[in-house]
Amino acid sequence: MSHLAVVHCAQLVTLARSAEIVPDGALLVRDGRIQAVGPRRVIETLITADTELIDAGGRIVLPGFIDAHTHPVFAGNRADEFEERIAGATYSEIAARGGGIRGTVRRTREATEDDLLAIARHYREWFLRGGTTTIEAKSGYGLSLEAEMKILRVLRRLGEDGRLRVVPTFLGAHEIPDEYRSRPAEYVQSVIHEMLPSVAREKLAEFCDVFCEPNIFSIDEARAVLHAARRLGLGLRIHADQFTADYGSRLAAELRATTADHLESTGAANFEALKAAGVAPVLLPASVYHLGSARYADARGMLDLGLPVVLATDFNPGSSPTPSIPMVLSLACTQMKMRPLEAIAAVTVNAAASLCRGHEIGSLEPGKWADFVIHDAEDYRELPYFFGRDPARAVYVAGRLQFSSNIY
Ligand code: NIG
Ligand code: FE
Repeated sequence: MSHLAVVHCAQLVTLARSAEIVPDGALLVRDGRIQAVGPRRVIETLITADTELIDAGGRIVLPGFIDAHTHPVFAGNRADEFEERIAGATYSEIAARGGGIRGTVRRTREATEDDLLAIARHYREWFLRGGTTTIEAKSGYGLSLEAEMKILRVLRRLGEDGRLRVVPTFLGAHEIPDEYRSRPAEYVQSVIHEMLPSVAREKLAEFCDVFCEPNIFSIDEARAVLHAARRLGLGLRIHADQFTADYGSRLAAELRATTADHLESTGAANFEALKAAGVAPVLLPASVYHLGSARYADARGMLDLGLPVVLATDFNPGSSPTPSIPMVLSLACTQMKMRPLEAIAAVTVNAAASLCRGHEIGSLEPGKWADFVIHDAEDYRELPYFFGRDPARAVYVAGRLQFSSNIY
């Protein structure tokens, strides 16, 4: 495999504990992994004749973004409901009359595995264009054994060629499907006794997630699903407190889940409990923005308490149709008062840790995978400062170029 040296970086934003930002830095890659990181003068002495030089042209270089919460496998989209919401309908009203997630489920069930793979590959280009090199990806638009397995197989195939890393999560408890509306308890039983064992047997997911809300899956139902998942060796993530205050977050703390996601309605009093339980908060400001709400999660309160805040897109066809981490960085800084470097850490090191991959991705350090991006900027603060553009100029996964833009 090839040897690369990335030189002429205005800033190498390593996100390593020491030397977080190296001015005029350079990076040496060998067989897809980072071999050395440091000031250009030091790294240059290590360059051998068989090394390909990549000139960053005085731009910044960062680890690839890690998007730790996405729902990328779905058929169709919901631009029609978007227009209804603009006219006054709410997300919950649309869901209650059978639209929303259930509408996407009907369409996704009809699509073949190959159809869905083609759609997911299309969205994969959008992620790469934004500088993302790893996504956590949830099922949840199948809601039957067959359709959930189909989506998880799509996710496995999506990750197979190594163009974008994919960490799969089973979200069978995303909504009660049409055929179970009158008997929701039976649906929970099906998730626990039919779906989870199959998912675990075929090793199709690393995590299990539940949409925990009083009118979707109650705390008791979510607990039952997550206990079963844990027994099968899956890690736990929870859609918590998106609409209802201090609801799912209490369960996340009780279960010591890996993450609690959303947390727009979580009171500061609950942050201590999350911290004590080692739960990482995954904040999704693009869904707040797209739903036209102003209730962003209290990132400052969490950071001040030392919680390892993660930011993600929540890419999905209903509440957050964006694959753009640069957009999320902008929202985090302007709406949640996160500092630029805090926001960048939230989509790199902290996101990697929340996916139990802190040892191999998330920072530019020797031994980790060479997932890095050359951005069209001279200072990392320009990433959240300029907004509504795609700053990534060259995106590498394991030392291989996966996207490049000549427009700059
Ligand atoms: O994270 N809250 C539940 N799930 C998604 C929305 C899914 C959809 O509307 O299709 C979310 O916001
Ligand atoms: Fe989500």
